[in-house]
Amino acid sequence: MMIASDSPRCPLPMPWGWFQVLYSNELAVGESKPLHYFGKELVIFRTESGKAVVLDAYCPHMGAHLGYGIRDQAGGGSRVVGESIECPFHGWQYNAEGQCTHIPYAKNLPPKVARGEKVIECWPVREINQTILVWYHPDKIEPLFEPELIPEAAGDSDEWSGFATFTWDINVHMQEMAENAVDPAHFQFVHGTSDVPDADVLEFDGHTRRGFLKTRNPTPKGVIEGSIENRNIGAGLSIVRFKGIYDTVLMANVTPIGPELTRAHYAFIQPKATLDTLGKTVGKAIIANIAQQMEEDILIWNRKTYYEKPMLCDGDGPFAKLRRWYGQFLQ
Ligand code: FES
Ligand SMILES: [Fe+2]
Repeated sequence: MMIASDSPRCPLPMPWGWFQVLYSNELAVGESKPLHYFGKELVIFRTESGKAVVLDAYCPHMGAHLGYGIRDQAGGGSRVVGESIECPFHGWQYNAEGQCTHIPYAKNLPPKVARGEKVIECWPVREINQTILVWYHPDKIEPLFEPELIPEAAGDSDEWSGFATFTWDINVHMQEMAENAVDPAHFQFVHGTSDVPDADVLEFDGHTRRGFLKTRNPTPKGVIEGSIENRNIGAGLSIVRFKGIYDTVLMANVTPIGPELTRAHYAFIQPKATLDTLGKTVGKAIIANIAQQMEEDILIWNRKTYYEKPMLCDGDGPFAKLRRWYGQFLQ
């Protein structure tokens, strides 16, 4: 189903897929938080047993928002009781299956509650790579693929550091950001890079995409050969591996807040062994450079308009291919 946004700039709907809503360490056991993604008000909480749960935000009783606590919970989310969240308005409780598990003062339960039916929408959640992912599909179709394990992001590695994170909210449809990956010509103008390598590999395979480029990095000690490998898992998840001067891994996940408002969650991971030596100079410089490139791209994205048929020339990247692949997530 195509849902046109009411945006003046881009007619595309939000893509479906797995999307990062939080890092795992942003949600403690017993904690709840409001979320605003996919044009919806949601609530996330972590149960006593450690499971992350996402529900629609509005209580089916009388519509209170489950993400905002009061009294002793003021300033935070509402109370988590065992495996359920408790509405701050009248104390009804809801579990991960969207069932109402407790009404503190009812003698006769509402029939749906008595029958154990789902009374509030619950969203598919996966916790992997130290992130909490939510499955969004406008037609509420169950997950059509699974997110992938990223060994460097597993969190228990002897070899790889924790995350250095950056977050940006950008006024752009996510497809416009994805096109950056197949746009060699913009590097010179937006990022000031003189030598732009051609893509060696560009593969589209179902819900995944992979690109591989060889790079030549001039240093005082001569040119160092390197590579950039990027892999997308659906529209929302991607991993970029930079090799050469200083190996760096970037988990670059993007999530639609609305059709034309996108949150980018960037987490950089670098080798533990050299964090205190080469990492302090070269490693930090690589992260700063990539973050700066992102900010340069944002200046364009925030203001550009969308063309269904851009006027392309032979030196442009394979935008049509990219859009065909991306289009599967827009229907
Ligand atoms: S509105 Fe949530 S319990 Fe009444
Ligand atoms: Fe760029």
